[in-house]
Amino acid sequence: MPLNVLLVGAGEINFGSVEGPWNHTLRLERKLGTSLTVVALVDPDVERATAALSTKLKGSSASSYLQCEIFSTVQTAANALSEANMPKLIILGAPPSVRGSDIPGRDLEIQIIGAFPGSALFVEKPLSNGLEDACQRVARRVQQARTLVSVGYMLRYSQGDLSRYFGGDIRLPSIAARTVEHNEPAGFLSAKRFDEDNIPPDNRLPRLTSATWKYINGAVGSLTHAIVLHGTLYDTEFEVYADGYRLKLIDPYNAPILSVRRPGITYEEIFKFTDDDPFFTEMSSMIDAIDHPEAQGAILSSYEDAVKTHEFTWHIRRSSEAAARAEREQGGSTAH
Ligand SMILES: NC(=O)c1ccc[n+]([C@@H]2O[C@H](COP(=O)([O-])OP(=O)(O)OC[C@H]3O[C@@H](n4cnc5c(N)ncnc54)[C@H](O)[C@@H]3O)[C@@H](O)[C@H]2O)c1
Repeated sequence: MPLNVLLVGAGEINFGSVEGPWNHTLRLERKLGTSLTVVALVDPDVERATAALSTKLKGSSASSYLQCEIFSTVQTAANALSEANMPKLIILGAPPSVRGSDIPGRDLEIQIIGAFPGSALFVEKPLSNGLEDACQRVARRVQQARTLVSVGYMLRYSQGDLSRYFGGDIRLPSIAARTVEHNEPAGFLSAKRFDEDNIPPDNRLPRLTSATWKYINGAVGSLTHAIVLHGTLYDTEFEVYADGYRLKLIDPYNAPILSVRRPGITYEEIFKFTDDDPFFTEMSSMIDAIDHPEAQGAILSSYEDAVKTHEFTWHIRRSSEAAARAEREQGGSTAH
């Protein structure tokens, strides 16, 4: 039975990247085979969309794209698509600046719910680059519309991902964060892949963010995010200490390894997850849930849940910015 899919965004998350393994169309093709029918690709950059579609039409899954039409907006797609070509699943892979809000122009979820009521919606992370209250309003609209939503926090589907289950919810006021800013001596980068002078100083990213917090269950969490390594690949690790265990998940994006130190022993056991593809599992779980409500529990990030993650990241940002401001005011920074 064909499954009609509408893609929003002709960029890397939907069509692949040299930086990492993300590529939603590849997972859709793998999951659905010849049942995949991509009915539309929406992107204001029509040239990019045309190039992405033409590559697909030359590939091994070309038959899934024969009916695909290109539109520059969600509404023009809704006006033009026939009843038979209405999408059952919409993949929202546009930048976070145009979604996660009810402000016109930044409200793609609301546009989609209005134009395609009844379609399931897969939304990429992060929910938005705007404030969390706007995301909360979108969450209410999504709930009212009873739209089935899955947010693409793919590491929750990794066979080795532990933090989601060990940590739970966070006491937001407990968050404390510090940064190394771009204009501090320790933040000087000798190698860059682009000319940062073109980016206004206020928009330049901290070189390192270090945050700590308490979970509601009393445990302590910490995050280190840094833009300091060379090459193009992500380097990601999770570490959990609990009940005499230390669990370390290394490289969940590419070749996940879980290192476990158990109570009573001092060496580490290593588990390798060679067949783990969390990008496939998140898409597969969404597709299974569309026709089988009993499978909806396999969706590991609802919109409301993703709003909590978004709130959490804003608290880290505000805490780190307040600390950087205080440092500047005290003259502690030797910014140049
Ligand atoms: N889960 C992951 O590991 C992962 C990996 C990569 C990207 N992402 C996320 O996916 C999203 C897209 O990232 P990307 O790398 O594909 O970006 P990209 O810049 O390569 O592509 C985004 C595309 O969206 C289009 N677009 C802009 N406004 C639009 C609108 N109103 N309607 C439709 N399309 C619009 C742009 O023209 C562009 O072609 C981001 O939120 C990013 O964080 C997640």
